[in-house]
Amino acid sequence: MKIVVTAGPTREKIDHIRYISNRSSGRMGYALAAAGKKFCPDGETVLISGPVNLPIPDGVRVVPVESAEDMLAAVKAEISNANILIMAAAVADYRPATVFPGKIKKSGDDMVLKLERTPDILFEISQIKKPDQIFVGFAAETEELIGRAIDKMRRKKLDWIAANDIAPADRGFESADNAVTLLGANGERVDFPLMSKGELAEKILARIMSGIKK
Ligand code: C5P
Repeated sequence: MKIVVTAGPTREKIDHIRYISNRSSGRMGYALAAAGKKFCPDGETVLISGPVNLPIPDGVRVVPVESAEDMLAAVKAEISNANILIMAAAVADYRPATVFPGKIKKSGDDMVLKLERTPDILFEISQIKKPDQIFVGFAAETEELIGRAIDKMRRKKLDWIAANDIAPADRGFESADNAVTLLGANGERVDFPLMSKGELAEKILARIMSGIKK
C-alpha cells in the first residue's frame, strides 16, 4: 500500500524575497499522513508538503515543495505506484506571470501585479489515473458547499471529495479542528461533525480504505 498525501500552502514567487501564499497550516494533511502510517505500518506514506511548521509524522517520507509547479512535479514523480492520493494541500490558483529577478524597488507609483493560472494538479493527474487508484480531493468553500464539491469531484474525476465549510471560525484553515462532509463518486455521503483534525483524518481514511477492501 502506498499513500500519497499533499499538505500545506504553496508559495508563488513575486521576486527574490516576496511571494503569494495562503493561510493553510498543513495540519489536515499531516494528520492524514499520520493516519495512513498508523493504518498501514508496512506500507509507504509520502507527504508532499508546502512550507509549514509542523513535526514530521513518524515513518512518513516528506517531499518538501514550494510552488504549485513543484508540487505537480512531486505528485507526478510519486503517483505511478501509489494506491491512494489525497490532495489536502491549499494549492495557489494564481501565480505572478513573471518572477522579478532580485528585489523589486519601490517607487512613488502604484504597482500592478499580473497573475496567471497555476496548473490544476488533480485535474492533470486525473488524466493519467489508473482504474484501481483512489483519488481524494478537498473542497474548501464558504458558500454552496455541497454543489460545488460535487462539481469538483466530477471535473477532477475523484473517487471522494471532502467538502469543507471554512466560513465558521472554529474549523478549517489554521484551526486545530475541522468538520467535513465526505462525498463519494458512488453517491455516498458521510457527515463528520466538528472534531480534532487527528480524529477526523482517521475517520476519513478508514472510510476510504474500507471501500478498497470490499
Ligand atoms: O478547485 P479547487 O481549488 O477548489 O479544488 C480543490 C482541490 O483541488 C483540493 O484537493 C486541492 O488540493 C486541489 N487543487 C489542485 N491543484 C490546484 C488547485 C487545487 O490539485 N491548482
